Amino acid sequence: MEENKKVLYSGIQPSGAFTIGNYFGAIKNWVDLQSDYDCYFCIVDLHAITVPQVAKELRKNSYESLITLLACGLDPEKVTLYFQSHVSAHAELTWILNNYTYMGELGRMTQFKDKAQKQGENIRVGLYSYPVLMAADILLYQTDVVPVGEDQKQHLELTRDIASRFNNLYSPTFKVPEPFIGEKGGRIMSLQEPTCKMSKSDENNNAFIALHDGRDQIIKKFKRAITDSEAEVRYDKSEKAGVSNLMEIYSCATGKDYAEIEREFSGKGYGDFKSGVGEAVADALKPIQEKYKELYEDKSYIKEIISKSTERTIRTASRTLSKVKKKVGFFEF
Ligand code: TYM
Repeated sequence: MEENKKVLYSGIQPSGAFTIGNYFGAIKNWVDLQSDYDCYFCIVDLHAITVPQVAKELRKNSYESLITLLACGLDPEKVTLYFQSHVSAHAELTWILNNYTYMGELGRMTQFKDKAQKQGENIRVGLYSYPVLMAADILLYQTDVVPVGEDQKQHLELTRDIASRFNNLYSPTFKVPEPFIGEKGGRIMSLQEPTCKMSKSDENNNAFIALHDGRDQIIKKFKRAITDSEAEVRYDKSEKAGVSNLMEIYSCATGKDYAEIEREFSGKGYGDFKSGVGEAVADALKPIQEKYKELYEDKSYIKEIISKSTERTIRTASRTLSKVKKKVGFFEF
């Protein structure tokens, strides 16, 4: 945690077990970049309540999310890790930024359109305003870079627009952040419907790999993955979505490039290929699962990390929030 490093910020919702989409699309990059930046990682529980939640489960998922991030390799000596609801500046800045964001902009967000469909007639205002909360998260920390999966790119663009609009209206207040999307893994697709994003909320359990899935389960799910009627392991995202997705996952898990993977499985059937992917993913997740078990019971250690991180976070966030309050004209003595 060094003040002179550039600031990196990202967040994740504690809404169930994380998938390999979350891992390869976001968390793995966080771990790889953690030494190069002053990093803030947030468990976004305020975002989580924009869809229905059971309180007890949300609480459990929040704790487990934190442990998972540590098990994935985030080092609490290097990064600041906290819960969004513990830092009230997020909600305060959101309210202010709601007034510098247009309804047209929020209505165009594809994630809102998708999720709103599931809420039927009573769409929550929070779901609509969700990207403003995300902008507040990022802008509070004068963030330079935001590592995310591709599905968050549109929200990042909106964040940049809101920041620039506010800066132009008053004077430079917010750093305008850049997205960081990894070369591979930015959009891991469903194993059952390879044209849709892999999601932890998918009703079909075979569509995603959760980070805590056991080896046998992982191998079984890959065996059932949708491919095509050819028998050729070749990267072609438009014609061979299923196989290309499996190749991308294999590449993320092993570091091998597509040409190498094509050579490795040339002349072999999809059965061998799918087993290979399953084994590689199970190997990649094993150390995470072991570390998770080790950390789970160490509540006092976890509590110590959070209270130290939260203190620092509140200090940093309140600096930006005070500036904003002054600029918009709130009275102070
Ligand atoms: P969330 O919780 O849906 O996902 C967390 C991160 O995982 C990425 N991701 C994926 N990447 C590749 N393939 C997939 N199938 C896949 N599924 C998820 C997401 O892109 C994300 O990077 N709104 C955010 C959380 C958030 C946030 C922020 C992120 C709140 N405030 C500020 C960055 C900065 C979300 O719901 O992510």
